[in-house]
Amino acid sequence: MKTRQVRIPTPVLGDTGGLRAARMARRRMLAGALAGAALSGVPWRIGAQGARIATPRQTEGPFYPDQLPADDDNDLVAVKGRSGIARGEILLLAGTVTDLAGKPLAGARVEIWQCDAGGRYHHSRDSSRTVPDPNFQGWGQFVTAADGAYRFRTIKPVPYPGRTPHIHFKVSGAAISGLVTQMYLEGEPGNARDGLFNSLDPRERAAVSVRVDKAPDGKALAARFDIVLRA
Ligand SMILES: [Fe+2]
Repeated sequence: MKTRQVRIPTPVLGDTGGLRAARMARRRMLAGALAGAALSGVPWRIGAQGARIATPRQTEGPFYPDQLPADDDNDLVAVKGRSGIARGEILLLAGTVTDLAGKPLAGARVEIWQCDAGGRYHHSRDSSRTVPDPNFQGWGQFVTAADGAYRFRTIKPVPYPGRTPHIHFKVSGAAISGLVTQMYLEGEPGNARDGLFNSLDPRERAAVSVRVDKAPDGKALAARFDIVLRA
């Protein structure tokens, strides 16, 4: 599938899972060697080291869009034909899709969907009373190239009744095993009460939790979520 993909700066902060300390040490070691190199090329290679587990599956939930938006790119904060920007805190979300050995997977269609800043999904069966944010796309997609990297501009997920903040992910492609999962934020107080999050064991929880940092521009937030497929 050929999709329009908006260029979004690559966040260089944040990481996924329990290997963070080892990765940070490796980053510091590599920092000198990489001085002057384009930062956009850095994190993907560094993040691909070490043992890993497959990203655990999570339920798709009831709010995968029943009608995909006309604007189907990877920028969920701006909707084609509208001049406004989505409410909420802008989050630059990036990562890689790899296999268990760390090999980047090309041709992986990464879809994300989440509720808007008012806690409402853009879905006909979301019965919450808040008015949908017309400037939030609600869903987006990105197809990976040879480096396995994906990136989105979206908003920091917010809680809604019964759920801690999360972003839904679906990964599919002709030559890859599909995955549906959800990504969570480290340190969210609602995580401890979230049934879906706590259906995972500690290692799996770490694999779907990301740290949110300031983006290099000092304005937006940034997070990295690496997705590991079984095959
Ligand atoms: Fe959800």
